Amino acid sequence: MTDTFYVTTAIAYPNGEPHIGHAYEMITTDAIARWARLEGKETFFLTGTDEHGIKMVQTAAAQGMTPRELADRNAARFKDLAAALNISNDDFIRTTEQRHHASTQEIWKRMSASNNSDIYQSTYSGWYSVRDEAYFDESELTDGPDGKKLAPSGAEVSWVEEPSYFFRLSAYQDRLLELYEKHPEFIAPKERRNEIISFVKGGLQDLSISRTTFDWGVPVPDAPDHVMYVWIDALTNYITAIGFPDDKGAQFSKFWPADVHVIGKDIIRFHTVYWPAFLMSAGLELPKRVFAHGFLTSEGKKMSKSVGNIVDPHEQLELYGADPVRWYCLREISFGGDGDWGREKFINRNNSDLANNFGNLAQRSLSMIQKNFDGVMPEAAPTEADQAVIAEVTAAIGRMQTAMQGQLVTEATGELIAALSAANLYFADQAPWGLKADLPRMGTILATTADLVRRAAIAALAFVPEAATKMLDTLAVSEDARLLTHALAADGIPAGTHLPKPEPVFKKFELPKTNA
Ligand code: MSP
Repeated sequence: MTDTFYVTTAIAYPNGEPHIGHAYEMITTDAIARWARLEGKETFFLTGTDEHGIKMVQTAAAQGMTPRELADRNAARFKDLAAALNISNDDFIRTTEQRHHASTQEIWKRMSASNNSDIYQSTYSGWYSVRDEAYFDESELTDGPDGKKLAPSGAEVSWVEEPSYFFRLSAYQDRLLELYEKHPEFIAPKERRNEIISFVKGGLQDLSISRTTFDWGVPVPDAPDHVMYVWIDALTNYITAIGFPDDKGAQFSKFWPADVHVIGKDIIRFHTVYWPAFLMSAGLELPKRVFAHGFLTSEGKKMSKSVGNIVDPHEQLELYGADPVRWYCLREISFGGDGDWGREKFINRNNSDLANNFGNLAQRSLSMIQKNFDGVMPEAAPTEADQAVIAEVTAAIGRMQTAMQGQLVTEATGELIAALSAANLYFADQAPWGLKADLPRMGTILATTADLVRRAAIAALAFVPEAATKMLDTLAVSEDARLLTHALAADGIPAGTHLPKPEPVFKKFELPKTNA
């Protein structure tokens, strides 16, 4: 049986344009998905848009549109972004789709039919923030300048009273604590775990899970004047896409429980408290892991509309192309921590890692094969030095694998650079350009270097797929020899293979000149 792997991003609110934070989440999750495929796993990668809720209603009204028109327009923008970033998602879910309504109504019914009838009707009153789509406890609020109360995010809250269905979250405290205890890997990075444990230990209140004040949502079964709380609807997307309610179906059996939900740090509570409780209540298995990444700032400052410093990923893509944008996200920003989008750092990172370390090595060694061996892979008679560098590079790729199995994306890209640095050092030490009088030795060095590039390019497929694919094409590596096992095993490019003319796959960028 092939191993399977199911990974998801959060589904974004399409009430505005996608920004670099959304791109960041897609890119990091894409690297995780592509790595699983490199390992030969049958992989399902899901992303999408979270289209219901009052915020969509309000934004649409302000723009003179219906919520559906707004959702259609912006969901298309998220899809375009995924394509432009070379994201390999297998599905793109929109919560307004029929399949999702059916699935969400079914999970509701199962929660309602659970042993302790986890869903009951009552009245809700409390402080609600439209912007956060969440209720807040009095103790969490602060006073704004004009006497208005504010949520921790700074959004205004108002006092709301409405008939509402409730979910008996309070009944899940012990089971959740047991989950965190038995499965310490459930919440990553591990620093986040304590936060959640103390939140749950502090006591859980039942959760209001329906609204009657607007109708842009999934109707509650048998109570059509209620729509479901947007987070029940949103979280359920992860099972809709693999066929729920058909939980005996092939897709569901293959891919549930999910291996990792990748999300931002602001929505950990929803994913590690509410979501497992909903699933327990519905009698479904729990995802294996939730990985929370940090937030991106722009040149050191929080991105905001009013400051006007929101980074538009399309602009960056036009300037630099997908691979450099991806690489910056995967190498410069420590996955799990906060990070910054900065032009100078971006250009330095691209030039040193991609153009110099990776690109030059490939271009120089392959051009020498063209020039000195008519583009035919030379015979290798490896010495100790040649074998040692192959062992070193292979070991680094092995460490990439260990890192990626725990989603340690930044460590993995660091190991790729370590592998390339070792290869560069070898190439410089051996100086094949000075061996015109000893062509067999020159051939061995070039064949060894080409093999190092082959290994690195296979491992790089998860991170810079376009460039890595071009390199493997130039090395005449067949499609079926591009799995991780081929990067780790001794199955180099056979001597005598004709190699196409190499073209540089990475560019150098210059910092714009300033007058300062
Ligand atoms: N719709 C909810 C998620 C529902 S998941 C069942 C949501 N949407 S969002 O559009 O606000 O955010 C989508 C994702 O982008 C979240 O994981 C969020 O943390 C992430 N980011 C939003 N702004 C970000 C940055 N500035 N930096 C990095 N990621 C950020 O929350």
